[in-house]
Amino acid sequence: MARRWWTLPLFLVSALAPSFSLAGPAFENTAIVRTIELGGSLVHVSTTYAVKALEPGQTTYQIALSKVERAKTSWLEAKVKGQTTPLKLSEDESSAEYLLSISLPKALAVNGTLNLVLETMQTHVTHPFPEQAAQNEPQLLKYETDLFTISPYTTLVQRTKIKSIAPNVISYTTPHDVDSFVRDGSVTRSGGTITYGPYHDIQTDTDFVAKHQQSVSVHYSFDYPVIEVETLRRTAEISHWGSNLNIEDKAHLHNAGPTLKGHFSRLEYQSQNFQRKQAPHILSDFTLHLPPGVTNAYFYDQNGNVSTSHLRTAPSIAKGSKAVQYSVLQLRPRYPVLGGWNYSYTIGFDTPLQDSVSYDAKNGVYMVGVPVLTPIPGTVVNDAEVKIILPEGATNVEFVSPFPEISNSMSTHISYLDTVGRPAVTFTYKDLTYKHTGIIYVSYQVPLSAHLKKALSVSAAFFSLFAFTFMARRVNLNLHKK
Ligand SMILES: *[C@@H]1O[C@H](CO)[C@@H](O)[C@H](O)[C@H]1NC(C)=O
Ligand SMILES: *[C@@H]1O[C@H](CO)[C@@H](O)[C@H](O)[C@H]1NC(C)=O
Ligand SMILES: *[C@@H]1O[C@H](CO)[C@@H](O)[C@H](O)[C@H]1NC(C)=O
Repeated sequence: MARRWWTLPLFLVSALAPSFSLAGPAFENTAIVRTIELGGSLVHVSTTYAVKALEPGQTTYQIALSKVERAKTSWLEAKVKGQTTPLKLSEDESSAEYLLSISLPKALAVNGTLNLVLETMQTHVTHPFPEQAAQNEPQLLKYETDLFTISPYTTLVQRTKIKSIAPNVISYTTPHDVDSFVRDGSVTRSGGTITYGPYHDIQTDTDFVAKHQQSVSVHYSFDYPVIEVETLRRTAEISHWGSNLNIEDKAHLHNAGPTLKGHFSRLEYQSQNFQRKQAPHILSDFTLHLPPGVTNAYFYDQNGNVSTSHLRTAPSIAKGSKAVQYSVLQLRPRYPVLGGWNYSYTIGFDTPLQDSVSYDAKNGVYMVGVPVLTPIPGTVVNDAEVKIILPEGATNVEFVSPFPEISNSMSTHISYLDTVGRPAVTFTYKDLTYKHTGIIYVSYQVPLSAHLKKALSVSAAFFSLFAFTFMARRVNLNLHKK
């Protein structure tokens, strides 16, 4: 639901006008620069706040986002500029806008300065405009945002850069009633970059937002398909017996670009491919980075095995190694996926268990790490479910997700040769992006009795198979003799 908020009419946006009564003038922003990198289903925003303390001993700085913007933001992270460790942040949604409180690494003295960077990923914020395109036409998208970056503190100067990868920007909004903040022009364009501002002396009072906040939009050409994975079901199954971790993804993918005007011409499609001038709104293949050391990879859809995939395997690497290596799986759906079309598929692969499970002999605890997802570049995953199936008889199960999940639950999964079933833990998430590639850790113990039970049930199965073959042979022999 939340992701549809961007379609709310504009008057609602201004009804959410902030009131910053709580925060005193502890800081001032000497400058704010917001950079918006336009994409298809993902838009990356990076905002730098040049901060100056006005009161002694300040340890918490607050960033404001409108509720509409917060609803569109699926990931956010704050850092001191140039540093790699994210700062601790807490959110307060009780006021008219979202306030993010950022813990500064050390207290600032009066006139002390710091550059903070807030990075966010927005999802479902662009839409095709027009909504239809012929096979040989470009793909045009529209993106809208608030003109001013709001803050609980006065801002001496601020600007917003909106960057399109392709230089052909069709149009952009010229702001109105901004003369009092502008010294030399309120918007400029250079290639694919539109710059709003610099705007001077932006105040914090409710009046300012009510009077001057406005929506601006950029209409641009985007040369890659706009892909959303509507649902992703990942199942990771740990087998101590096979010393194997199997991962299977069932995905339902949707091309959210403009729908096709007129008929699809395969001839035109093939000649576009041949000239390497593929229609930007048609998805013909995509690439996934799988872990190193994968075996038994498969790719199928409703009609069976899709034989046009291609896997290049990197050798398995030791756990904890910093080496960046991955196997590359190139997937070519059975048919080109046009705007508005869907494609459902399943991929799966095995990796050696020792690449993702470690064992602490001292207290008998296993720890497994399973990636939340394998991202398709530039793609949002609307609803994800990750189910981790532990070995039979596993107890003392504990788990931690790399970022907050929407829900988690335990269940029991029964499969072939199981006696009591396997404990499974399932996580659900929303609006995942390539920033959400963290690892879920699950720890568990497997009591000796569970190992023995498994051994018994496996040998019983083998024995009956053996007995059956033996009998069959005898019967056969007997028949033969007669
Ligand atoms: C802070 O800077 C202002 C103006 O630059 C100056 O007037 C003031 O004395 C400074 N305060 C401290 C505590 O350094
Ligand atoms: C499926 O297709 C792949 C080619 O990508 C082929 O190597 C594999 O043998 C096929 N599997 C089956 C079960 O037909
Ligand atoms: C694609 O899937 C969505 C639901 O996931 C459905 O509403 C839509 O009708 C499908 N489109 C086509 C062309 O089948």
